[in-house]
Amino acid sequence: MENIKIAIAGIGNCASSLIQGLDYYRDKTETDAIGLMHWTIGGYQPSDIEVVAAFDIDKRKVGKDISEAIFAEPNCTDVFCPDIPVKGVKVTMGSILDGVSEHMTDYEDKYKFITSDENESTKDDVVQVLKESGAEMLLNFMPVGSEKAARFYADCALEAGIGFINNMPVFIASNPEWAQKFEEKNLPIIGDDIKAQLGATITHRTLADLFSKRGVKLEKTYQLNTGGNTDFLNMLNRSRLSSKKTSKTEAVQSVLKDRLDDENIHVGPSDYVPWQKDNKICFLRMEGKLFGDVPMNIELRLSVEDSPNSAGVVIDAIRCCKLALERDTGGVLYSPASYFMKHPPKQYNDDEAFLMTNDFIEGNRDN
Ligand SMILES: NC(=O)c1ccc[n+]([C@@H]2O[C@H](COP(=O)([O-])OP(=O)(O)OC[C@H]3O[C@@H](n4cnc5c(N)ncnc54)[C@H](O)[C@@H]3O)[C@@H](O)[C@H]2O)c1
Repeated sequence: MENIKIAIAGIGNCASSLIQGLDYYRDKTETDAIGLMHWTIGGYQPSDIEVVAAFDIDKRKVGKDISEAIFAEPNCTDVFCPDIPVKGVKVTMGSILDGVSEHMTDYEDKYKFITSDENESTKDDVVQVLKESGAEMLLNFMPVGSEKAARFYADCALEAGIGFINNMPVFIASNPEWAQKFEEKNLPIIGDDIKAQLGATITHRTLADLFSKRGVKLEKTYQLNTGGNTDFLNMLNRSRLSSKKTSKTEAVQSVLKDRLDDENIHVGPSDYVPWQKDNKICFLRMEGKLFGDVPMNIELRLSVEDSPNSAGVVIDAIRCCKLALERDTGGVLYSPASYFMKHPPKQYNDDEAFLMTNDFIEGNRDN
């Protein structure tokens, strides 16, 4: 079998973890591989995924081999696989558009994006790189709030005739007009906004589901998150946040028996703490009523390294996208989207989404 050829837009912390993972699992076997939901999907192991093209706009990354760029500042995630061989794939200058928030200028270089002086790529340039590289799908890792940049890369994927995995919360798979564009070209799309392997969203959803199943009325909840990576720095600009808040809040609301009034649910990124780097801390509180209207509450603190947590899911999304390409299935892949993403076009609870995704992998569901 040939490798699955992927292109990545945004060589930040999530891309770093993903690319490290491709080499990390190369020497492992099914029995000693920790941290994967599936060892193989459609016969593909993690190391059967190959990055053939990459785009970024930071001068410390553009023009570098991806094996070097993934460790360049301001990336700050855990290095669990330091010896990445040179891949022979250089990071191409992308199109900046709204990828860089103005407020970042106030921060030291090691924390923020610094744009490259190279000429920006046009859509034609990006499409040409994608076509020449043989990429079968493009993964979008733009910063939150990059509405124009995310759509630019989605458009490039359409034009290049390849699949698209939208890991961030600009709504593309869950926007009917965009979904239709992929459907018309018979190209698979999985989105939007990757749901981490064991992160705040899946934990909050699971507990909310438990409240429902045990007959406890949830009355109020919050999920406060802090972190010190560029994702959290970027999200200090509240004007970029609206789709992230919608995505994270809907992920919880959608599993509740009765939706909470807006004033009784608060879910979102809460602060930027530089020394936390890629460690994300989630403080979660749920208040409810038990038998006899008697009040109860639960508080939970979750500490995770943010980016490997996303890569553990992206690695399955890539292989599901490949299956769709092999089966000539285009448009939204509803089952993988509902299991892997926070804001899919259609929400299912995680038990259902898990079964649907396994059915899709087995070939018992079309999408
Ligand atoms: N870590 C997780 O678990 C997780 C979960 C869900 C969603 N996400 C989302 O995934 C996205 C990526 O996260 P990350 O932690 O890798 O972010 P990051 O800030 O580390 O990386 C973003 C990268 O995009 C580059 N970039 C900015 N504008 C660009 C443009 N116009 N063209 C090309 N490159 C550009 C930056 O230089 C940087 O390298 C974010 O939107 C984040 O919210 C992450």
